[in-house]
Parts: sequence; C-alpha cells; structure tokens
Amino acid sequence: MKLLVIGGTGKTGHELIKQGLAQGHVITAVVRKPKKIKYSNPNLYVEKGDVLVPKSFERLVKGQDAVLSALGHKQFIIRTTILSRGTKNIVSAMSRNQVKRFICITSLGINDSKFKLGLYYTLFTIPFILYFYFLDKSKQEKIIMDSALEWTIVRPGQLTNGKKRTIYKHGSNVGHYILTKMISRADVAHFMLYILNTNSYLKSTVGITN
Ligand SMILES: NC(=O)c1ccc[n+]([C@@H]2O[C@H](COP(=O)([O-])OP(=O)(O)OC[C@H]3O[C@@H](n4cnc5c(N)ncnc54)[C@H](OP(=O)(O)O)[C@@H]3O)[C@@H](O)[C@H]2O)c1
Repeated sequence: MKLLVIGGTGKTGHELIKQGLAQGHVITAVVRKPKKIKYSNPNLYVEKGDVLVPKSFERLVKGQDAVLSALGHKQFIIRTTILSRGTKNIVSAMSRNQVKRFICITSLGINDSKFKLGLYYTLFTIPFILYFYFLDKSKQEKIIMDSALEWTIVRPGQLTNGKKRTIYKHGSNVGHYILTKMISRADVAHFMLYILNTNSYLKSTVGITN
C-alpha cells in the first residue's frame, strides 16, 4: 500500500516506517526536519511538511491508500492546540483528496476511556501535567469521529521503547482503573499496520496494552 506517515521523526513514527517498509509498503513521511531521518530506502520518501501548515503537506496526501498518524509533542504544561489543529488539517486534506483510511494514535484516558490509564495518571499525571495535552487529544478525537473518513483511533497505554513482541491486548475493555498498563511503541506500530491490512476497527476507538 501507499502510506503517508505523520510523526515519522518520533519514536512510534520511526517504528511505523521501519515495520511498514519491511512489510513492503511504500511510505511517504511528512516531517518538519527531514535531516532527522538518518536512513534511506527505495520505498521511503521523506518530505518536509508541518501539519499546522496545510499547504506544506496537502499535495503529499493525494494518491495515498491510507494515512497513519503518530503526531505528538512535549509542550505539556502550556495550553496547546497542536494535535487538534494538526489533525483537523490532516482530515481536511484527506477529504479533499478522497483518501479515506486514517489510523491515528491518541491515548487511553481520553473521552470514554477516561480513568483507564490507572490511578497514578488519573489522580496526578493527567490533572497536573497532561491536563491541556489531554484536553487537546480529546478535541483531536472528536474531529476524527465527526469526519466521514474510515478512521480508527488507537489508544495505547503508557508507551515504552521495548521490543516488538506482537503479543498484546486490544479492544474496548483494555486498560485498568488502578494499574498503569504499558505497551511498546514497536507493538503499537505493529498493531496499526495489522489493522490496516485487515480493515478491523473501522470507525472505532481501540485500546492497546500488554
Ligand atoms: N508517552 C506515552 O506514554 C504515551 C501514552 C499514550 C499515548 N501517547 C501518544 O502516542 C503518540 C506517539 O508518541 P511518541 O512518544 O512516539 O511521539 P514523539 O516521539 O514525541 O513524536 C511525535 C512526532 O510528532 C511530530 N510533530 C509534532 N508537531 C508536528 C507538526 N506540527 N508537523 C509535523 N509533525 C509534527 C514530531 O516531529 P519533530 O521531530 O519535528 O518534533 C514527532 O515526529 C503521541 O501522540 C503521544 O501523546 C504517548
């Protein structure tokens, strides 16, 4: 398939590119700083673009079979709208170019998965550190859900840099109200590529943890 990957310079995005190429997909990575991608492959096209600037990436959406987003950032403390604005631009560009399949990472703890990142996140990390980030993620999800795209929202537990195990739980009941369940970025990428091939979880949210 022809895939557009957003967030390819990030840790999960890197896994999406690496595993996607290994599966034979042709990947276009939209990145703000192309020099950050330090590897090459005949099936990888690295293009400069910023999801906050529609003109910078819209032409790259045309002709893709799907868009996979691992968009994220570390501006937690200040009020931010990067995820929702960026995603709105991605959704609009996809709609205009008749690209339907969109798989996007948000997080457990958002909207109807509230409290499912465990007690420590519920009582401390989300209200005191991730409050604005999660507010923006919640808006991000609503923009995707309100779209006419064939979307899947993937909500991981706490991310790790662990190895790809390909053994994990996924579904609407994943997560825990007391414990913080984890999942490696490699397995999140594996799952996103898996549902792309099977067309599972269309127009659904899905949690994923070990
Ligand atoms: N950490 C956790 O425990 C956890 C748990 C659940 C869910 N998540 C979510 O999982 C997702 C992936 O996490 P991660 O740790 O792999 O992310 P990451 O390493 O922080 O990567 C984020 C990516 O988004 C890109 N990006 C940011 N702003 C952009 C813009 N305006 N235009 C284009 N690209 C932009 C970054 O590009 P630059 O390299 O240019 O900055 C980077 O490639 C995030 O949404 C995160 O919130 C994380």
